[in-house]
Amino acid sequence: MSTFSLTVDVWRQPSPEEPGDFTAYDVPDASPDMTVLELLDRINAQLEAAGEDPVVFDDGCREGVCGKCGVTVDGVAHGPERNAASCMQHLGAYRDGDRVRIEPLRAASFPVKRDLSVDKKALRLVAKAGKFPVAMKALANGGCISCGACVASCPNGSGQLFVGTMLRELPPLAKDDAERRERSARVIDASEEQFGPCSLLGDCVEVCPAGLPIENLSAVAQENLRNRFPRRSRDAPDPG
Ligand code: SF4
Ligand code: FES
Repeated sequence: MSTFSLTVDVWRQPSPEEPGDFTAYDVPDASPDMTVLELLDRINAQLEAAGEDPVVFDDGCREGVCGKCGVTVDGVAHGPERNAASCMQHLGAYRDGDRVRIEPLRAASFPVKRDLSVDKKALRLVAKAGKFPVAMKALANGGCISCGACVASCPNGSGQLFVGTMLRELPPLAKDDAERRERSARVIDASEEQFGPCSLLGDCVEVCPAGLPIENLSAVAQENLRNRFPRRSRDAPDPG
């Protein structure tokens, strides 16, 4: 496998309270099949050999299924390859001498903990509003891995793809219509507290590693209208 040289600008930030900045690292032996996280591993091996602090970043399965990873690569949440988590983003598009910029997922609701690691508590708070185990089952049924890239890709910081996927899958898990309404109203309220509004820009569907469809966005408006106008909804009791 041929190797090539990259200069990698990595966001370093010691703590949430301190400012961060980019530090450049040279990696002389990058390869097309190396992933973004493996590139960070390579930098960390160099730093550890030099007795310096490794770059902190989030990871887990490294197979695109757990949703724990997530960095911004050259300005794109997860990285430039469409619909792939950071752990599945490869360096095939880069050439010898290129520069790569790696920074945290950027969203007002995801504060940086350290370096490239962010706090995704906002996602958990919205899931808790829908009753945590049930909401997680709904997300799993919908294929969402709760990575947060949809929020980070959106100029408004909207979580509509995450929330819409949850709301699309919650109804079959409710015991009756009242429970469905109560849960969806709580989820919508929590999402409005945690995230920005959706402007239907669609950046989220380009980065979502699960490839979730733009139609999922409409579930938020649908549940909202259903809650506001219950007498007109399809399955409301006949008022007459
Ligand atoms: S909707 Fe897609 S991008 Fe958003 S959290 Fe779920 S898997 Fe990640
Ligand atoms: S590490 Fe699990 S999805 Fe990337």
